[in-house]
Amino acid sequence: MTRKPLIAGNWKMFKTGPEAVDTAVHLAEDCADVTDVDIMIAPAYVCLPLVAAAIAGTRIHLGAQNLHFENQGAFTGEISADMLKTAGVEYVIIGHSERRQYFFETDDTVNKKIKAAAAKGLKPILCVGETDAQREAGNTFLTLDKQVSDGLKGHDPKHLKDLVLAYEPVWAIGTGQTAGPDQVAEVHEYLRNLLETRVSPDTAQSTRILYGGSVKPENIAELMRINDVDGALVGGASLDANTFTNIVKYD
Ligand code: PGA
Repeated sequence: MTRKPLIAGNWKMFKTGPEAVDTAVHLAEDCADVTDVDIMIAPAYVCLPLVAAAIAGTRIHLGAQNLHFENQGAFTGEISADMLKTAGVEYVIIGHSERRQYFFETDDTVNKKIKAAAAKGLKPILCVGETDAQREAGNTFLTLDKQVSDGLKGHDPKHLKDLVLAYEPVWAIGTGQTAGPDQVAEVHEYLRNLLETRVSPDTAQSTRILYGGSVKPENIAELMRINDVDGALVGGASLDANTFTNIVKYD
């Protein structure tokens, strides 16, 4: 099976509505000729409808950075899958390490969020990755196994055909430190096998596994040459349309 690469930009808590629209429009213009890579941007919630309108009919796909697992209810400050869907969202990032670290997301809430997203036809991007301390202690694979297994436990593989997995070593996010090619290759192969044993062989084949953590124009080509790397989740370097375009158009 051939997997079309996905280059996704996570804008985190950056950009007001007008700024998000401006960047999205520039990106859409600069990437109008890109057909071999799926491009996604994930602005803040309030920017989603504005950006959806701005990129309609272009090659840019829209993602959200989080969702709540309930469909509606008294959950002040939360956003449901239906709300995202009707705002024009196609992808949703789930379990990003910043959410695990600062907002107490657990593998259990991640599991429910994946289920809620898939049930509404949103494409979940499940983020996993070890901290520096976990890697130093030799627990990288143990950590990833738990995050993947618990995050996807009990899910019908039929509902995971659009699943995306993002390997983001926590120590590489926003630090300028990228995992080396051997480390990335080793982990991505491990994750592909994990999907096969924990979910299904079909899921292992269809799931795009992205690398994330200080991806920039200077290192994207090397990362994309690695077996089992099907794209990238980009934070800081996705905020500028020119820089992000240079990542999307890697060669
Ligand atoms: P970074 O962030 O590219 O700024 O390291 C990646 C991410 O958090 O998804």
